[in-house]
Amino acid sequence: MTYPTRTFAIPVLKGVSEKQVKVHLGLYEGYVKHVNLIMATIAAYGKTTDEGGKYAIAELRRRLAFEFNGMRMHEYYFEQFEGEKGGDPASALAVAAQEKYGSGENFIAHIREVAGSRGIGWVAVYSDPKAKTLHTVFVNDHELGQLAGLPILLALDLWEHAYMVDYVPAEKKNYIDAFFENVNWSVIEKRFEEAVK
Ligand SMILES: [Fe+2]
Repeated sequence: MTYPTRTFAIPVLKGVSEKQVKVHLGLYEGYVKHVNLIMATIAAYGKTTDEGGKYAIAELRRRLAFEFNGMRMHEYYFEQFEGEKGGDPASALAVAAQEKYGSGENFIAHIREVAGSRGIGWVAVYSDPKAKTLHTVFVNDHELGQLAGLPILLALDLWEHAYMVDYVPAEKKNYIDAFFENVNWSVIEKRFEEAVK
């Protein structure tokens, strides 16, 4: 099988230009392309008995998580801007956020704090349905630091490519402000409802 490049109905955003979105979607397409390329290459050469070939295949397997999560994390990211902006202060997610962080405002403040971590990567907010709680972590690259098996509720891209058309690195905070201006909380709430079903 091959993974398709998804399209997203992204409205005009506040503080994020159309050019920035276009450039970023182009990068996403590159991840989908390379997931498919890695899988096809492993399939084509996976039974090689050549020592160098076997080593190359092992390295491709090691590389898959970078490309795969690069694809999937961007799908989580772009979906969050789709649809009419909403959010229910009495949603199940809001209740869970209040239990863990004290209030919705504290929840967002915590995401912002984690987003201030040095380096490129993501803030990922997860639901842990077994422990009935939320976790907010910094993921390096796309794959290092992910929490196994936990559904992702929110993905905030903190690679410089996510904002450098519009902002310089020292203005990362402005990009984070823009993210929260544009994120459709209904999408996040729906993910939470699915996660705890
Ligand atoms: Fe990105």
